[in-house]
Amino acid sequence: MENKAEKKQVLVTGLRPSANLHIGNYLGAVKPMIEAIAANPGAEVFMFVADIHGLTDSSPDTIKQYRHEVVKDYLALGLNPKRVSLYIQSAIAGELSYLTLLLARYTTFNDLMRVPTLKDKLKVNQEAGQANALLGFYPILMAADVLIHKGTLVPIGEDQISHLEKMREFGEKFNNEFGKIFPMPQPHSMKLLRIMALKGDGKMSKSHPEGALFLTDSAEEIKKKISRAETATEGVMTPSFESLLTVACEFGVETEQFVADHLAGKQIMGDFKKALSDALVEFVTEFQTKRARITNEQVAHIVEEGAKAARASAERTMQEVLQVMKFN
Ligand code: TRP
Repeated sequence: MENKAEKKQVLVTGLRPSANLHIGNYLGAVKPMIEAIAANPGAEVFMFVADIHGLTDSSPDTIKQYRHEVVKDYLALGLNPKRVSLYIQSAIAGELSYLTLLLARYTTFNDLMRVPTLKDKLKVNQEAGQANALLGFYPILMAADVLIHKGTLVPIGEDQISHLEKMREFGEKFNNEFGKIFPMPQPHSMKLLRIMALKGDGKMSKSHPEGALFLTDSAEEIKKKISRAETATEGVMTPSFESLLTVACEFGVETEQFVADHLAGKQIMGDFKKALSDALVEFVTEFQTKRARITNEQVAHIVEEGAKAARASAERTMQEVLQVMKFN
């Protein structure tokens, strides 16, 4: 019986409640996520907008403003709401907080302060001990997000691997104390692309809008940004040209001939940029059209249905947890 129960895959993942996606977010996070779901047709899928996690670095107002917008973005980018239970994390805040507190027994303040993502989020010269405690709780809440559904598969980027390890550690310690309740979540490694800013070094980022291609950009803006994008002189390969080639490939541009000609010293940049902008313009136009058709009512309905499924699953797990703990 136990074997049978273990076989069912449960894919769980949280989405950042940030607004205004750029091509780097799409290729580096959203697309791999949608592919991860497609690659596991038998899995039950829970996906949520991590609005409580968002409170670690944004105001409740900001988060509230964006949490349904994120859902619209994902839907317009091809996420099938019939295939996934899509909900807002805070819809199951009660169960999640309770599980978070119960799991908090399995870690120490010192350990929490060593989590790499916490270190990344500290302000300049701030010590980990000075961070607000919600940031410290981030990995415990994240473990609860997955364990509450007995998640087995977590599509996750490299930057989140330390969180996955924590998750497993919490599940294992609970199981050791009270019996095998939680399966060990496995990472579903996603092919993550790092898309560079169009100008200069570094990743494409919202904080440098001139170097980023947003899904909300107009055709004109895209053409202008691409025409100004940094490339390479004939015969030379540079990281910025390589990154543009990656983007082009992802959007269906045949790049082989461009690369061969470029390396042979021919001038291809004008033609290449034209092909790239055409493909991008087509993609964002389609995205914008689809997105504009999604109504607020549709989103509200989808996340309500998702929340029902998530709540049922969360309540089931909590009952079981409290039962084995003899704490009900
Ligand atoms: N921390 C994740 C991120 O920044 C979001 C997240 C929250 C998440 N809870 C999760 C991801 C649970 C996977 C599983 O992207």
